[in-house]
Amino acid sequence: MVDINIAAAKEKLSTKGFLDIDVSPELDLFLEIEKLKKEKNAIILAHYYQEADIQDVADYIGDSLGLAQQAEKTTADMIVFAGVHFMAETAKILNPDKKVVLPDLKAGCSLADSAPGHLFQAFKERYPDHLVISYINCSAEVKALSDIICTSSNAQKIVESLPADQKIIFAPDRNLGAYLIKKTGRDMVLWDGACMVHEIFSLEKITKLKIRHPNAKLIAHPECEEPILRLADYIGSTTGLLNFTKKDPSMEYIVATETGILHQMQLSSPQKTFIPAPPTNNCACNDCPHMKLNTLEKLYLCMKYEQPELLMDPTLMVAARKPIERMLEISAKYGL
Ligand code: 13P
Ligand code: SF4
Repeated sequence: MVDINIAAAKEKLSTKGFLDIDVSPELDLFLEIEKLKKEKNAIILAHYYQEADIQDVADYIGDSLGLAQQAEKTTADMIVFAGVHFMAETAKILNPDKKVVLPDLKAGCSLADSAPGHLFQAFKERYPDHLVISYINCSAEVKALSDIICTSSNAQKIVESLPADQKIIFAPDRNLGAYLIKKTGRDMVLWDGACMVHEIFSLEKITKLKIRHPNAKLIAHPECEEPILRLADYIGSTTGLLNFTKKDPSMEYIVATETGILHQMQLSSPQKTFIPAPPTNNCACNDCPHMKLNTLEKLYLCMKYEQPELLMDPTLMVAARKPIERMLEISAKYGL
């Protein structure tokens, strides 16, 4: 049974970020969510870093590129975005006539937050002859200041698609940027931002784990720092990492990215062992605190009451759409 004080919860929505309504523990949320999907012609798009229950009710689970592509092509009336704010913004920008709801408006991203629009504008002005490639983990304001958006699965192809003498600013992730400089040999100006989750892995603990598990392969997301990437047997986006574990013959992996991805890895390869790469201290810092703000209850509530809804300035949406479209065009050209 749902608390009837819905009006009060809606009033507090902007401060709380979600509808704070009690949900009866007796309610079968999996069943209710399926009913709401049909009733409202809704699609649930979820990122791999979402908790397992959310992944299990999703219509599509993917990395940032896959999620953007799905959001652009969906014919559903309502997109329920189980991820973080910049991902829901991208969905709205690509399909502005759809209603986009999200479980918690406050699910942000430390990497996106590391590049405030006004500071990025000033930074860009220092390099007037540079083209701006921004990682999708940034605000709509930063996207609007960019020429091309990229994700971890298409970044290398996008950099390589530009003429060799083109000067480039890469923002906001310095680790992905440094990795791309190494892979492409291009000298890019980097914005000094990073993800709080991917910078927490302990090189020392991973090295010890590798000694204890000599047959385990280390697989890492390119948002990790260089010493971890240097040690990795495979580097890729979340989808890249998952696909690698499906095709590779090894039976054990140390996974240096957010722990949510382990759910799909384990489902796809139940016979294999997946060890989350350990953080520097004994915290659960390899769980993204932003991604994990979303819960199955909040997901159910946002579908039922269609709030919080992501609303954006139409002018900003038009400006931010161009560099995302450029990314999708280049990705399509390379079959990504
Ligand atoms: P991908 O899923 O695109 O690899 O991105 C990872 C990430 O950190 C999303 O916040
Ligand atoms: Fe942002 Fe890092 Fe969380 Fe991804 S894992 S949403 S990059 S803070």
